[in-house]
Amino acid sequence: MNAPLHDRGVIAGYKAYLPVTGATPIISLNEGSTPLIHSPRLSERAGAEVYLKFEGLNPTGSFKDRGMTLAISKAIERGADTVICASTGNTSAAAAAYAARAGIRCAVILPAGKIATGKLVQAFIYGAKVVAIRGNFDDALRLVREFGEVGGVSIVNSINPDRIEGQKTASFEIIEELGEAPDIHILPVGNAGNITAYWKGYREFHAAGRSARLPKMVGFQAAGSAPIFHGHPVDPHTVATAIRIGNPASWEGANAAMKESGGCIDIVTDQEILDAQCWLASHEGIFVEPASAASVAGLLKCLGDERCAACPFATPLRGGAKIVLTVTGHGLKDPEAPVRHGNFVPVEADADLTAVRRVLD
Ligand code: F0G
Repeated sequence: MNAPLHDRGVIAGYKAYLPVTGATPIISLNEGSTPLIHSPRLSERAGAEVYLKFEGLNPTGSFKDRGMTLAISKAIERGADTVICASTGNTSAAAAAYAARAGIRCAVILPAGKIATGKLVQAFIYGAKVVAIRGNFDDALRLVREFGEVGGVSIVNSINPDRIEGQKTASFEIIEELGEAPDIHILPVGNAGNITAYWKGYREFHAAGRSARLPKMVGFQAAGSAPIFHGHPVDPHTVATAIRIGNPASWEGANAAMKESGGCIDIVTDQEILDAQCWLASHEGIFVEPASAASVAGLLKCLGDERCAACPFATPLRGGAKIVLTVTGHGLKDPEAPVRHGNFVPVEADADLTAVRRVLD
C-alpha cells in the first residue's frame, strides 16, 4: 500500500537509515522514488541489462532534492533561519525551493555567466538572494566556507554531511527495485558528493543484508574539468556547467568509492557528452542535461577501444549483469546547451497541406 500523501519523500521512506528523530521537522516536496528506466538500446550495446535512474524527475529537476530535504530539515531542527550554498546551479535551485518550503532565507553564490538559464530562474522564483561572483564554483565554495566560519548561516553544500545522507537514498531505491545492487554503477562527478553518497548507500544496504552484491563505482568527469582523473586541481572548463569544478570538496570520498569498489574515475570530452545527450533523447526518449549525459557518454566509452586502464568492462561481465547509470538532472534545465551545438531551427512552411507535406517528404 502507498504511504499517506503527507508522508512521502526520502526522509519518510528511509527514517531508520537517516539521522532524524521524532523531533526533526520534515521539510519535503515528495522527492525521490524516481524511475529506474530500462534502456533496451544501451542494453543491446553493452550486452548487459542497462537501467537509467532518472533523477531529473525530482521536484526541482535534479538529484539535489534528496540531500536538500535532509539538509534543510536538520537546519530547521537546529534553529537556522538562513541557509547558504555555492552552486553550479542545481544545488542553488534545490536549496532555494526547500528554504521557501521551510519559510527561511536562502542565499546562493554562483559563478557569473556559467549557470544554465533554467537553474538561475529557479533560484530567483523560489525567492533566494542570488550573488554571481567573478570566479568559478571553487571560489564560490571557498566564500561559503568563510561565511560558515563567521557564523549565523547554515551551509547546505555537500560538505554538510546531511546532504550526503539524503543522497544515499538513491542507492536504496535501486537495490529495492532490482532486488540487489547492480554490477556496475556509472555517474557523473563534479564536486564528488554524489558518488560518495551512492557508495555509502550501497555499503549500508549491503551491511544490512539487503544486497549481497556491491557495485563497481565508475565516475566520469568532463575532460576539461577532471581534477580527480589528473590527480591535481585544474582551472575548469566544460559545456557541462553543472560539473565545471576544479577542486572537488569530496575528492577523498570519490577516491575511496573508486578504490574500495574496484571501479574507476575516467573522462569524457564535451563532444562525447553532447553526442550522448542527443543520442539518449532521440533513441530512448530521455532528455537530460549535459552533465548527466556524461554517464551515457562514459558507458559508450567503456564499450569502445579508448577505455581507461582500470575499466571494469575490460573483463567480460557475467551473464545477466546489471548496469545502472544515474542521469542527474533534467534536460529542460539547460535548453541552450544542445541548441548552441545542434541544428534546432524548424523549417517554416505555409499553412496548407501541400506545403507541409513537401517539407515532411
Ligand atoms: N550532475 C548534475 C546535474 C549536477 O548538478 C552535479 C553537481 C553533478 C552531476 C555532480 O555531482 O557534485 O555530487 O559530484 N552539481 C553541483 C551544484 C555542484 O552546485 O548544483 P557531484
